[in-house]
Amino acid sequence: MPVDPKRLAPLRRNLSFLRRWLRNPKAVGAVAPSGRSLASAMAAEIDPQAPGWVIELGGGTGNITAALLEAGVPLQDIAVVERDPTFAKLIAGRFPGLRVLQGDAAELRRLLREAGIGPVKAVVSGLPLLSIPERSCLRIISEAMEVLGDEGILVQFTYSPTSPVSRRISSRLGLQGQRASWVVDNIPPASVWRYRAERAGKLLQKRSA
Ligand SMILES: C[S@@+](CC[C@H](N)C(=O)[O-])C[C@H]1O[C@@H](n2cnc3c(N)ncnc32)[C@H](O)[C@@H]1O
Repeated sequence: MPVDPKRLAPLRRNLSFLRRWLRNPKAVGAVAPSGRSLASAMAAEIDPQAPGWVIELGGGTGNITAALLEAGVPLQDIAVVERDPTFAKLIAGRFPGLRVLQGDAAELRRLLREAGIGPVKAVVSGLPLLSIPERSCLRIISEAMEVLGDEGILVQFTYSPTSPVSRRISSRLGLQGQRASWVVDNIPPASVWRYRAERAGKLLQKRSA
C-alpha cells in the first residue's frame, strides 16, 4: 500500500532533528522537537491581532512556527532566527514565503536591522537556555528585550521546574517573569514562561489605576 508522503513528513523532520542533536547535543538541546501541545501553549501567549512582528528564536524543524500560524499569526508577521543552516533550510522549505534569518540569536538586533524587520511585539524562544553559558544567555535575552517595545513579551519554554532565565539575569535586565502554563503531555513535560520589562509592568499598573 502506498504511503502518503504528507504523513511521512513529520517522521522525516523528527529524524533530522535527532541527527542534528547527535552532532551537537548542547546546541540543539532536546532529542525531539516540541510536541503539538507545547507548541500551541507557546503560541497561545501571542495576540495575533496586535500589530508588530513575532520573532521566533531557534526554530528547529518549525513546530512552534506551525502553531503560531494555526493560532492566527499571519505568515508575513513572523521571522525565524535559526543558527543551524540545516534547520534554517528545512524551515524555509516547510513554510514558503516565511522570513528565515540564518544566524545567532545573540546578534538579534543586527539581524533584524539588516533584514528591515520591526517593530517587534513578541519574541518566542525555543532556545535551549539551560545548556547555554550564562554570559551568552545574558547577551541573547538582553538583545531580545532591546528589540521588544515596552509592552512586548518574551515567551520561553523549559523542561526545568524553575524559571529558564536565571534570577541574576532577570534582576540585571529588570525582567518580570511568570509561568504561563504547564504542558504535562509533552515529552518531557515542560512549562511556558512569559517575561516583560519591569518598567512595562509599572506602566500597565499606572494605566489601569
Ligand atoms: C530545543 S531546539 C527547539 C526547536 C523548536 N523551536 C522546537 O520547539 O521544536 C533549539 C533550537 O535552537 C537553535 N539554536 C541554538 N542556539 C541558537 C542560537 N544561539 N541562535 C539561534 N538558534 C539557536 C538550535 O539549532 C535548535 O534548532
